[in-house]
Amino acid sequence: MTFNEILAWPIPVLITDTQRNVWFFNERWQTLYGANREKVYAQSAAMVRLGLAKQSDYDKIIASLMQSGVWSGAVVNRHFEDKHYMVILYTVFKWEVEGQSVYVSLHQPIDLMSVEGTTAIGSLNTVEGIFLKTIAKIAEWNDPEQERHVWRVSALSRWIAEMASTVGLIADEDVDVIEAASVVHDIGKAAVPKEILFKPGGLSEGERTHVKDHTVIGGEMIDVLYSQMNSIHNLYRKLFEFAKDSALTHHEWWNGHGYPKGLAGEEIPVVGRVVALADVIDALLSKRPYKASWPPDKVKEYIMQSSGKQFDPLFVHLVIAEWDARPVEE
Ligand SMILES: [Fe+2]
Ligand SMILES: [Fe+2]
Repeated sequence: MTFNEILAWPIPVLITDTQRNVWFFNERWQTLYGANREKVYAQSAAMVRLGLAKQSDYDKIIASLMQSGVWSGAVVNRHFEDKHYMVILYTVFKWEVEGQSVYVSLHQPIDLMSVEGTTAIGSLNTVEGIFLKTIAKIAEWNDPEQERHVWRVSALSRWIAEMASTVGLIADEDVDVIEAASVVHDIGKAAVPKEILFKPGGLSEGERTHVKDHTVIGGEMIDVLYSQMNSIHNLYRKLFEFAKDSALTHHEWWNGHGYPKGLAGEEIPVVGRVVALADVIDALLSKRPYKASWPPDKVKEYIMQSSGKQFDPLFVHLVIAEWDARPVEE
């Protein structure tokens, strides 16, 4: 592989030496960042650090590169000219090219609004909202059906939260937050083996425990993200708290019979109660490897019967009253 061959790849590529001095970048990289050639070459390494991450985060990337020769993850970078933020799926690896040791980095912008099924979550167009969507998308990368479930649950959560806000159950400003937080509710499933998640028929006790762990693992994942985003955490604290609660508590039941903690009633954070309802509505209406889809009337019936048991009765009341107006995927 030669430098020219790498630069001809159909994605934005930047090549630096191991001191992170810029050697080459391709047309696509330049277009993505609006980079002026001379400026980039003159400023070398400093220009590679464009985004919101702190020096210590870059140190971690470098440490990972030295140890395993590769780092991959989502970063929030800025356009050179108009300074807008972009969520970038960033992969960098160490390579020998033409006898030289270099770092090759691939910058894949994540344009989530063009992803099928995401149009219903239009209010998520903030840096932090896009960040959560990106994380959710990466977690569901290999599972388009689960990904669509996540977007539908987000749309349903917003619908429930909006109704709840009109009757004063939820603060108006929390509607957007709940919508954004709901997209990561199942993020912990990334850590559950696919053979278990997609197994048709029943699960063993051990397997069921594995699946249930997606709540606790999801909460921990959000904690890790949050702690790595220290530099912006004051602005986005609420969103991350809601995101964590959505992952951790969306399988709790109103009567205390859910998991992982067996919280009951208003001990369950409001976002957990909203997402729980949205999650079950969508799960029952959809086909899964282990079950057929239920007709809407049967789902409505189930939701009514579960009021005060599995679900917050006030939210059930709102949902049933407006059942025919629920958001459905186009
Ligand atoms: Fe779940
Ligand atoms: Fe779910």
